[in-house]
Amino acid sequence: MKKSAFASITLALAAPLLAANVHAQAFGKADDAVQYRQGAFQIIKAHFGALQPVVKGQVAYDQAAVLADVEILDQVSNLPWKAFGPGTEGGKARDDIWLDEEGFKAAQKKYLDSLGPLTAAAKAGNLDQLKKAFADTGASCKACHDSFRD
Ligand code: HEC
Repeated sequence: MKKSAFASITLALAAPLLAANVHAQAFGKADDAVQYRQGAFQIIKAHFGALQPVVKGQVAYDQAAVLADVEILDQVSNLPWKAFGPGTEGGKARDDIWLDEEGFKAAQKKYLDSLGPLTAAAKAGNLDQLKKAFADTGASCKACHDSFRD
């Protein structure tokens, strides 16, 4: 009795972890992958977009608020890519993503690399540095969209 109760508790605890793991590796349906990556890009847009009025001088520079957005951006920027696996064509993703995997990976790397200077600027509290890094990151978003998004 005790043993089986223990076993079912263990299972109950492990199940969500297993599910999360499976979900990360392979989405149930292509649609799930499309929704996941689009959702991730929406969050990326929200936290990257929050920097725009700051670098344009439309709102006062608040170092803590900027750093909070950049740190979330760093985290969320790891998410979309695993949702472009084989058989997940769709959404506004161009087929070139699957035909030119190296090119798509290079565009990801350019973007992810651009977050280093952005994060450094946010940590340093240097608005001029932030403006430049923001422009570079924005250019890497656009470069990927120009090649890989409809
Ligand atoms: C390496 C390529 C790549 C980079 C870098 C990239 N994106 Fe995208 N983005 C895509 C692709 C591909 C889609 C289309 C996804 C789909 O519809 O399945 C997309 C979609 C989007 C969408 C629409 C999501 C929706 O709801 O349909 C937004 C907003 C977006 N990206 C913002 C950004 C921003 C902001 C950045 C930079 C901070 C960025 N992206 C960087 C490839 C990229």
